[in-house]
Amino acid sequence: IERTLSIIKPDATRRNLTGKINAKFEEAGLRIVAQKRIFLSLAQAQKFYEVHKDRPFFGELTEFMASEPVVVQVLEGEGAIAKNREVMGATNPANAEDGTIRKEFALSVGENSVHGSDAPETAAEEIAYFFSGLELVG
Ligand code: GTP
Ligand code: MG
Repeated sequence: IERTLSIIKPDATRRNLTGKINAKFEEAGLRIVAQKRIFLSLAQAQKFYEVHKDRPFFGELTEFMASEPVVVQVLEGEGAIAKNREVMGATNPANAEDGTIRKEFALSVGENSVHGSDAPETAAEEIAYFFSGLELVG
């Protein structure tokens, strides 16, 4: 059974959307096996998004992620990585399908409400970045 890392981003926690977003995951058959609300430091956000460090939006992205609390979580299910990305919708909400989290809730390509791992290797790394094995309760 597959696991993926999800982050409910500051634009969504600020608007009190954690429960509505979690309902989308659960309706799609994803199980929340770990979850915590944290306030990332800028250094922690920069480390998490290191792969994007040369992109023009890196500063904006990391400052946004460190601006207000986030909810980090581990989602479990059959094909959880792809399923989560389906439920999230396209990065830019203007391109997201109806019924997806980003279509319903995202404000812009930057403030797009959720993060989801994109492959098994990154999922494993991202889960380990935030959680110890003891915190994953399947
Ligand atoms: P994640 O699940 O967050 O990784 O989204 P993604 O895989 O759909 O997008 P990608 O990895 O390409 O970009 C990572 C994040 O950077 C996005 O979710 C956005 O929050 C942000 N981002 C991407 N493009 C832009 C942009 O043009 N401007 C800004 N401000 N942020 C961007
Ligand atoms: Mg990505």
